Amino acid sequence: EQIEKGGYEHFMLKEIFEQPKSVHDTMRGRLLVDEGVIKMAGIWDHVERFKNANRIIIIACGTSWHAGLIGEYLIEEYARIPVEVEYASEFRYRNPIITDKDVVIAISQSGETADTMAALKLAKEKGAFIYGICNVVDSSIARITDAGSYTHAGPEIGVASTKAFTAQLTILTLIAFKLGKHNGTLGNAEFMSLIAELDAIPKRIEEVLSSTHEQIQQISKDFVETTNFLYLGRGYNYPAALEGALKLKEISYIHAEGYPAAEMKHGPIALIDENMPIVIIAPKKGHYDKIVSNVQEIKARKGKIIAVVNKGDRQVSEMADYVIEIPETSECFSPIVASVPLQLLAYYIAVYRGANVDQPRNLAKSVTVE
Ligand code: G6P
Repeated sequence: EQIEKGGYEHFMLKEIFEQPKSVHDTMRGRLLVDEGVIKMAGIWDHVERFKNANRIIIIACGTSWHAGLIGEYLIEEYARIPVEVEYASEFRYRNPIITDKDVVIAISQSGETADTMAALKLAKEKGAFIYGICNVVDSSIARITDAGSYTHAGPEIGVASTKAFTAQLTILTLIAFKLGKHNGTLGNAEFMSLIAELDAIPKRIEEVLSSTHEQIQQISKDFVETTNFLYLGRGYNYPAALEGALKLKEISYIHAEGYPAAEMKHGPIALIDENMPIVIIAPKKGHYDKIVSNVQEIKARKGKIIAVVNKGDRQVSEMADYVIEIPETSECFSPIVASVPLQLLAYYIAVYRGANVDQPRNLAKSVTVE
């Protein structure tokens, strides 16, 4: 096992550090920047089905569901196809309206999650076209879908999903750009500039890992005794906030909630005092001015602010108690880059609390019962 961990203390840390490679592997053979092409046979063979879909319904559980939420932002923005994202367990029991004009995308790292499988079968019976995004090759979900894309993140051992999540975001980004180009909703110049930026995302992740790793170990020490956390983000980074909170609660057992930053005033603001740490994702591109005013509201109530900002940031950084810098990217890529320090933060807080990060209590890597 020590050999499999490759010198890292836990699989989770190893998998966090593998992300420059796993994201690259997910794009390998698909993203051909010089030719200006995204090659995805699973999409291309059915591209009219996607284009003419009434809507795309994304079905998933847990972390994969968070990836699905970001998929909704991506596909609606670039391909202009309506998207809904559903928890598989809710979808299957609420007599959903599905027709043969719908496309269902199932996202599952393991490809074995019982609720996702059952929801898919239901959608299939009603005639929807089913597309799978799985990590485990030849898994049950991968086998029953009509088409799909593997994430190629490699085996993920840590129960808390990290590299599978960023690989899912990478696939969803490729799908959104490919469909956008085909549908004519994403112009060629923007397409070319986005794919060049996507191609460099593994490098951005590498930068984040090396520039924030030690700092996050230090920050984490201050939160070992904390009992609650709030995570806030807007737009693409709202689901990233949900995922950051999920990582923390899964492995450290600290209660954490993710919220869209603007919704804070409809509830969570009542919780804020000097004992409440708030992780706020505030990159330049993505409603930055609005985030600044959210941070002011937190500051006025003495909340402890841990801000994830772009390099060179001033306004949010001046108000924050802790500043974690990530490189600036187009908004659609920021959840990939911002997730990395949040994974590290959850990891180190959990390690310092003495928790079993690779196998947290009561959780399973793949949930094959409902
Ligand atoms: C379990 C795992 C999570 C995962 C979820 C969905 O709860 O602990 O990490 O996100 O299942 O799993 P899937 O394999 O379908 O992505």
